[in-house]
Amino acid sequence: MVQKLEQIYEGKAKKIFTTDDPEAIIHEFKDDATAFDGKKKGQIGGKGLVNAQITTALFQLLENQGVRTHFRKLLDDRNMLTDRLDMLAVEVIVRNIAAGSLAKRLGYEEGTPLKKPIIEFCYKRDDLGDPFLNEDHIEELGAATKEQVAEMRETGLKVNDVLRRFFDELGITLIDFKLEFGLKDGRLVLGDEISPDSCRLWDKATGEKLDKDRFRRDLGKVEEAYQEVLSRVKGIAKEVGNF
Ligand code: TMP
Ligand code: ASP
Repeated sequence: MVQKLEQIYEGKAKKIFTTDDPEAIIHEFKDDATAFDGKKKGQIGGKGLVNAQITTALFQLLENQGVRTHFRKLLDDRNMLTDRLDMLAVEVIVRNIAAGSLAKRLGYEEGTPLKKPIIEFCYKRDDLGDPFLNEDHIEELGAATKEQVAEMRETGLKVNDVLRRFFDELGITLIDFKLEFGLKDGRLVLGDEISPDSCRLWDKATGEKLDKDRFRRDLGKVEEAYQEVLSRVKGIAKEVGNF
């Protein structure tokens, strides 16, 4: 059994611990929730447990489809063992339907389908408000190479294909999501989490939001939405919860 050792980092939604394996770390998922670069703070009951399990199911699915992720094992209901990566300071956003900042940027009504998926890059800097980056900015910052940018774009689209189909079977429309990548032995690996914190998920039948927008926009029934996504994921992902 892997040993959880020293906390090396505390983020907004997770704590990171070293383990007795120098190549592995543990992500402890918290119930804390933030929005607007940490300006809004709160708690979502049971979120850590829900997000650890959803992330596990989605990373297992992606691994099975040939996407390299940091995932190793779900240790218990909120602790996930992963490879240790050197994270890039870039967030990769993939969008199918206009919502949030894209709807604002393009003057589209939320819910407008896009002609094809759109990929965006943002600088992972809360103090700057996670600003938009183009490829020249990324090169200027030295945040990733041109080849890595191309690979993140390609992997982002692949992840989108896999997740879109998966959520569709659960009666959920995948509106958009955010990915983070890191390097292991010089190779790009998908890291962080994929959960209702980092995706927009709308019920296909009713259009109801089943994601962190319920918290960001004070829509109520936040816990219920997260639990609903988990119960649908658990319905078809047999591995989740069998730690
Ligand atoms: P946005 O519309 O606010 O730019 O968000 C796009 C998607 O990315 C949405 O699913 C939420 C997710 N996201 C994060 O997970 N973390 C962030 O810091 C931001 C800005 C967005
Ligand atoms: N994760 C970011 C924050 O905590 C932005 C968001 O999800 O709205 O501020």
